[in-house]
Amino acid sequence: MDHHVKDLGLAAAGKARIEWADRDMPVLASIRERFAEERPLDGVRVSACLHVTTETANLMRTLAAGGAEVVLCASNPLSTQDDVAAALVAEYGVRTYAIKGEDTDTYYEHIDAAIAHRPHITMDDGADVVGRIHADFPEALDEIIGGTEETTTGVIRLAAMAEDGALKYPIVAVNEAKTKHLFDNRYGTGQSTLDGIIRATNRLLAGRTLVVSGYGWCGKGIAMRGAGMGANVIVCEVDPLKALEAVMDGFRVMPAVKAAAECDVWVTVTGDINVIDEAMFAAMKDGAIICNSGHFNAEINIPKLREMATSVREVRPLVEEMTMADGKLIYLLADGRLVNLACAEGHPANVMDMSFANQALCAEFMVANAADLEPGVYDVPEEIDASIAAVKLATMGIEIDELTEEQVAYLCSWQEGTV
Ligand code: ADE
Repeated sequence: MDHHVKDLGLAAAGKARIEWADRDMPVLASIRERFAEERPLDGVRVSACLHVTTETANLMRTLAAGGAEVVLCASNPLSTQDDVAAALVAEYGVRTYAIKGEDTDTYYEHIDAAIAHRPHITMDDGADVVGRIHADFPEALDEIIGGTEETTTGVIRLAAMAEDGALKYPIVAVNEAKTKHLFDNRYGTGQSTLDGIIRATNRLLAGRTLVVSGYGWCGKGIAMRGAGMGANVIVCEVDPLKALEAVMDGFRVMPAVKAAAECDVWVTVTGDINVIDEAMFAAMKDGAIICNSGHFNAEINIPKLREMATSVREVRPLVEEMTMADGKLIYLLADGRLVNLACAEGHPANVMDMSFANQALCAEFMVANAADLEPGVYDVPEEIDASIAAVKLATMGIEIDELTEEQVAYLCSWQEGTV
């Protein structure tokens, strides 16, 4: 089986949407043009495990233009856009294994198909391919030269592997680039999470209480955009510094059990497990809508919620109504999976432009430099980060000043002080 998608008949619709996204991904397009001339990835086998979206399709096109032989599988069972998967196979010749709603067995069969490609480079969003290779396919390590990782959760998993001495090849943490997390995590998650909640529920946010668990870059984006839509935002944090930051950004901060009594809509973006648990379900306001925008569906204790519910029904697509023993209703979106990708289309192309420019340039970096790198987790080289910011500004038609020679010299001196 050289691909597994829902319906190749969706390819034309997928192609039109991929081209639409491409119009808002000028940095990636410029890399694609250069890659087509220079072919820096000639003959390099890439196994990518990413959300199968229009933006990812444009990254796949870019890698292929650089000469890579790419196989793509889904990085979440609910995030695949089936028309895009079809177009990748039928229009762009990218072997793709992804079907929206696939069960866990199929999800891993798709990952295994990507590993069977015998990659030189792995490209992960959540580290499932890296984890699977190290646990079940160690023989694949012989041909791998390096990898990239897209997201915070994946970087945390890889750092834990490296700390244990378990990680067997070098991986660039794309998430750590400033042109990635300051934009994708903040503005991308901020917009796409609210987009997912709104598309799923069609509820008004103005005047409602929005609880955000986690005040990292994703949480900051959601809180900021929620406030912008008129929601009263409560932040729940365990880190005193981030909690303080949330307070000074103008949000109320309180423990999760207290927030539960007030929440109309609750989003988790912590990267940790059971952030909304039994005590919060018990304290929760009638009619609360709960969802997750972190990588894994472990942030809400869904088995416990199902156990506590006396009945469950789907009242809208991906909206489950749970009736609790006291008659209270709690609404769970997308079975706790990434609400922005399951109920909407993920981050808009304009921020994924920078994230995926990092992916493309880091794949090129890996091919050129892997031989000199020990196994471990590496930051994106600063030159790559800075060049993406500069090109992005240029594509927006924005000019900035440059330091004068005098200013450069001043910044390098220590002799001058109070005058
Ligand atoms: N992660 C978040 N949004 C995404 C998108 N649009 N495409 C791929 N990965 C994503």
